[in-house]
Amino acid sequence: MQPILTASQIKALDAYTIAHEPIVSIDLMERACRAFVAWFTERFNNSFTVGIVCGTGNNGGDGLGIARLLKEWGYPVRVWLVKGGAPESIDYKINLDRLKHLGGVQIDEITAAPECSIFSDEDFLIDALFGTGLSRPVEGIYAKVIACMNTARGTRVAVDLPSGFMADEPTTGPSVEARYTVSFQLPKLAFFFPSSFQYVGEWAVVDIGLNKAFIRQALTSHFFMDRNTARSLLRRRSKFDHKGSYGHALLVAGSLGKMGAAVLSARATLRSGVGLLTVHTPQAGISIVQTAVPEAMLSIDGHASVFAGEVQPERYTTIGIGPGLGKAPETVKAFHKLLENFPHPMVIDADALNILGENRELLHLVPKGSILTPHPKEFERLVGPWQNDFERLEKQKQLAGQLQSVVVLKGAYTSIAAPDGKVYFNPTGNPGMATGGSGDVLTGILTGLLAQRYDTLEGALLGVYLHGFAGDLGAWEKGMDSLIASDIVEFLSGAFARLGG
Ligand code: ACO
Repeated sequence: MQPILTASQIKALDAYTIAHEPIVSIDLMERACRAFVAWFTERFNNSFTVGIVCGTGNNGGDGLGIARLLKEWGYPVRVWLVKGGAPESIDYKINLDRLKHLGGVQIDEITAAPECSIFSDEDFLIDALFGTGLSRPVEGIYAKVIACMNTARGTRVAVDLPSGFMADEPTTGPSVEARYTVSFQLPKLAFFFPSSFQYVGEWAVVDIGLNKAFIRQALTSHFFMDRNTARSLLRRRSKFDHKGSYGHALLVAGSLGKMGAAVLSARATLRSGVGLLTVHTPQAGISIVQTAVPEAMLSIDGHASVFAGEVQPERYTTIGIGPGLGKAPETVKAFHKLLENFPHPMVIDADALNILGENRELLHLVPKGSILTPHPKEFERLVGPWQNDFERLEKQKQLAGQLQSVVVLKGAYTSIAAPDGKVYFNPTGNPGMATGGSGDVLTGILTGLLAQRYDTLEGALLGVYLHGFAGDLGAWEKGMDSLIASDIVEFLSGAFARLGG
């Protein structure tokens, strides 16, 4: 699991590495430049022309080092030095001397607002104006240069961060809109937010050998999940286990016209290793569920078309509730009663969340240790609107703390907020999963894991990872455009097998 550090922690990490490796800062900068160039040369050959736009701080120093190395690789390179008043760092000056010494690279200074046509010839524009040292919104010459870069035809690649983009707070001023961002050592918090995609594009993190011990002990509440962590969470089965060892889940899902949601959830619950599954269904769903999911038992509601009756909570280790449920007044009452009577963690999704959003006085009844899985709209119904993605993250942490439960906010980099204030961003999944029923599958997976008595947070981390991984396997096989939720269920077995194997 990778910790996500703030820009100031990364500055301290740079300094710590310099002092303790030990390494002089210009050599550390060289490592960063080489890591960037390795990323670049693996993807784009030297038939492309490269323009590098440098500031005068260390990010500009990186840009100058990259210019020298790319020149050595045979790329046609030219450089612009943007002089808008920021101080010149020592390592910037050293790398400028080295570049001049190499020769063969045209270096121009920009000291006043330029004509945008200056960037029109380059296939690639490498943005090394500002990195993590940015302390305020850019203006003046810098803003004009950024505007010109954003309208240039070349593909923009940012070094560490797009210039003007803030790593730890909302970006309010102009910023480079990069197609790619090659970031050093660790991802930055803002990379995980939807509003950042416009600036960051596709991002990659390259290792520059910053001190690992410092990273491990740094204080942070934000983490990036990885495969090894997911693998370590997956439990092994033992020889003498029986179905009772893997819990009994109840799924309360589906209503007339939305029984497909119940079917998808039920299949995913079963594919996640639960011992026994009962689906509570209105009468309209009996034959649908029995036919589509023969492995599941039924608990039949007295109502013809919606959830309105009682369940026997003592029979189940967990309950997953919400997919296709509807919000009929009888359902609201029945859900209220269930919340009052069920003592174990639940998985709460879809219309069950909407009911909570419209009846917030019920929130305190959510059993501690539950998992809530809102998409952004459902989340807004629960907590109200937010100004920006950082505020949304705070609201997510608050809700998890208030309910002493895990809040899984679905999207690219689904974020998983724990009651202790920590948030984990998930790496798996793809835009093909933006399709009806995908969330119902996640509810099923999480219900299956909680029923097996996985710890709530561990179950949420593993379940979200597997859901995205199954979606990735499905997309590789079938393509993103035609991926449907049933495919995610289908590829779940492969996701479990590959993770466990
Ligand atoms: N408008 C104008 N100037 C600004 C603005 C603004 N809006 N915001 C900040 N500045 C100025 C500041 O004066 C700042 O310098 P200061 O912090 O010394 O006052 C200057 O811009 C520098 O900006 P950056 O180049 O973004 O920041 P920095 O010099 O801290 O470099 C870094 C960032 C280290 C290059 C990082 O993005 C990175 O790439 N790290 C990878 C490792 C690396 O290459 N390290 C370098 C060698 S080791 C070392 O840095 C100690």
